[in-house]
Amino acid sequence: MKYYKVVTYGCQMNEHESEKLCGILEKFNLIQTDDESLADVIVFNTCTIRENAERRAYGNIGALKKLKKANKEKIIAVGGCLTQQKGKAQELKEKFPFIDIIFGTHNLSEFEQMLNRRIETGKKFIDVSTDEYKMPCQVPVKRSTYPSAYVNVMYGCNNFCTYCIVPYVRGRERSRTPEEILVEVQGLINEGYKEITLLGQNVDSYGKDLNPKVDFSSLLKMVASIDGKFRIRFISNHPKDVNEKLAETIKNNEKICNSIHFPVQSGSTNVLALMNRRYTREDYLKKIKMLRKTVKDIAITTDIMVGFPNETEKDFKQSLSLLKKVKYDGAFTFVYSKRSGTKAFDMDGHIDESIKKERIVKLVEVQNNVNKKLAKKYVGKTVEVLVDEFNTACGYYMGRDERGKAIHFSSDRNVVGEFLQIKITRADGISVYGEIV
Ligand code: SAH
Ligand code: SF4
Ligand code: F3S
Repeated sequence: MKYYKVVTYGCQMNEHESEKLCGILEKFNLIQTDDESLADVIVFNTCTIRENAERRAYGNIGALKKLKKANKEKIIAVGGCLTQQKGKAQELKEKFPFIDIIFGTHNLSEFEQMLNRRIETGKKFIDVSTDEYKMPCQVPVKRSTYPSAYVNVMYGCNNFCTYCIVPYVRGRERSRTPEEILVEVQGLINEGYKEITLLGQNVDSYGKDLNPKVDFSSLLKMVASIDGKFRIRFISNHPKDVNEKLAETIKNNEKICNSIHFPVQSGSTNVLALMNRRYTREDYLKKIKMLRKTVKDIAITTDIMVGFPNETEKDFKQSLSLLKKVKYDGAFTFVYSKRSGTKAFDMDGHIDESIKKERIVKLVEVQNNVNKKLAKKYVGKTVEVLVDEFNTACGYYMGRDERGKAIHFSSDRNVVGEFLQIKITRADGISVYGEIV
């Protein structure tokens, strides 16, 4: 065995778990490759948030049938959120009998033993039982996002938004202790990482399950007290839980980026109630006001979807008007996707696909216009960016300011991982370009 490949499908949490899977695979002295025909071990780290994520995984796994037939020694493993949906492991097993290992997010830390067992005994292995949701914290991580690094602060979700599968596949909220998180962050800073992104499905719930209890703002302060020049980001917050303490904490700590991901989901109070989001349009807008008042020039991004069951034309228009009113610095726009096992799945009033399509096109158009206007506003400003990468496709370096805006510029030397002052000289659509000051 010489090579491995890990395929990622989902959110940042999923991406970070792929980094852990890579870390485990490198313990077997395997080398990463993109070439599936070359890889001796292929791991699909699936996502099931929307049907298309699931479909993609099914397609990719199915496409391996030939390769596996040609080389029976190839080990194929499927993990991630999809396998933990009720009945899916069995379905995968039946549809793709050539899969060697099926595991879940809760037992990712045992992937090493599972792979060992498969290598030693040649036997197939399935374990997606979810009696115990373990936290995969003590596993090696092969990071792929330098100069940024992900750090899990908690796992699971207790919110049960009616459209969402996450609580069913990831279990209840479990927080890591501040001590453990601080040790990991300190280690990353010592290694030269310049940006830490704290991960949780709802970071505002952090620490409620710990004894003694700790809240997220206190954790942020602790992380910010670590010496060195670095940035702190975090995802995601839940609007029902965001409070002034958090806003003050962002404001008062230089290292914490003036930026928040603040997923609204819908601009209509009626739809929000059906979604079990536990805030109204008005509550949400009040919090936006509070955030902007407390934290000067805070960047606010969101998630928003169209076509939730019973969403009327009027409800949809309220989503459009919310985007125009808030002028988000970025919005991830989704078409509602039916997930079996969730409350919304069984609701009456599912919306026609053709209407959903019409709505998403309009939604994206409104946000695009907002994005373009915001990009223009950047011209003439000088901002500090942390340089992420050199983009070979466009020939520019790309860095982000603390508001998370991607900024492109040229440099004669490799500046990845450096903090630089960039003067923005032009905007082209939603992209902005500048030069090193
Ligand atoms: N815990 C995070 C992320 C959840 S998943 C949060 O609450 O913000 C990321 C986004 O996917 C959600 O914010 C939501 O907008 C979207 N999403 C979740 N379930 C969905 C579904 N069934 N159909 C369409 N979009 C969905
Ligand atoms: Fe899903 Fe809601 Fe939990 Fe986010 S807060 S993971 S949208 S249930
Ligand atoms: Fe993330 Fe997808 Fe699971 S969005 S939490 S990998 S269902």
